[in-house]
Amino acid sequence: MKITSHTKVVGILGYPINHTLSPQMHNAAFAHLGLDYVYSSFEVKPENLRGAVRGLRALNIAGVNVTVPHKERALEYLDELSENAKKLGAVNTIKLEGEKLCGYNTDSEGFITSLEKEGNTDPEGKKILLLGAGGAAKAVAVSLANQGARKISIANRTKERANALVTMLKHIAPQVEANCLPLGGDELNKCATEAQLIINATSVGLKSDAMPPIDANALHAGQLVYDLIYSPAKTRLLAEAEAKGAKILNGLGMLVYQGALTFEIWTGKKAPVRVMREAIMI
Ligand code: ATR
Repeated sequence: MKITSHTKVVGILGYPINHTLSPQMHNAAFAHLGLDYVYSSFEVKPENLRGAVRGLRALNIAGVNVTVPHKERALEYLDELSENAKKLGAVNTIKLEGEKLCGYNTDSEGFITSLEKEGNTDPEGKKILLLGAGGAAKAVAVSLANQGARKISIANRTKERANALVTMLKHIAPQVEANCLPLGGDELNKCATEAQLIINATSVGLKSDAMPPIDANALHAGQLVYDLIYSPAKTRLLAEAEAKGAKILNGLGMLVYQGALTFEIWTGKKAPVRVMREAIMI
């Protein structure tokens, strides 16, 4: 890679940020297509988010990804939003278009593509347990509802956030049975036992051996347990699920597919998906 004064800069804003594989993935894609871009990572504390997003325009940074915990708050500092970002109230991609900071969300499409292509699972008619109610959880919940899920139960540490997500689902997809429950306890374990698909969209297990407060005995064969976390590649939740005979999937596929869509938004070129995946094999 040859960086010159013409090189366009893109990157990712998050806190913490040292777990991200997005730089390897995007830089491999730029190199493969001979595009003059470089992707870096920026550790941005919550109190500095406003300055960081506004600074993109000041520094003429071509675009960024936005990750934990900024996906929702970043919205406030943007000039325009795609329909999907508006609907989700969260962005994972920003592009500087002229003088305007435009927000997009490629998480929902990235998640569904991964679920279908890698998990061979169609959410239609399924009972689903979703752990978490942050920006990533929202993208997942909305995409599942749009794909015809039968029931989506949301468990989150902060009850108000789970309530808000259920209200949103009821509004945009009234045909889906949506409810919320506490993160932990008998009700959660019963729901986990009944679910055909369990998704972890909390950050519990990210760079640690922590297990979301769910009884491993509730996991069983016939289920797909999907953890949005990809580092570590096998979280404690996935290890427990695998030991109980469930099918497991980590967040690498979602990372690749959302990244491919983001790449296309930034560059206007078709993303080399295979190259991107190979760059982050861990
Ligand atoms: P993202 O945009 O990536 O979804 P986020 O909006 O900060 O990031 O959401 C993180 C999710 O992980 C939330 O559901 C959060 O729960 P709260 O809504 O209660 O904050 C969840 N989470 C983070 N740390 C957690 C912990 N230690 N125990 C349980 N849930 C946790």
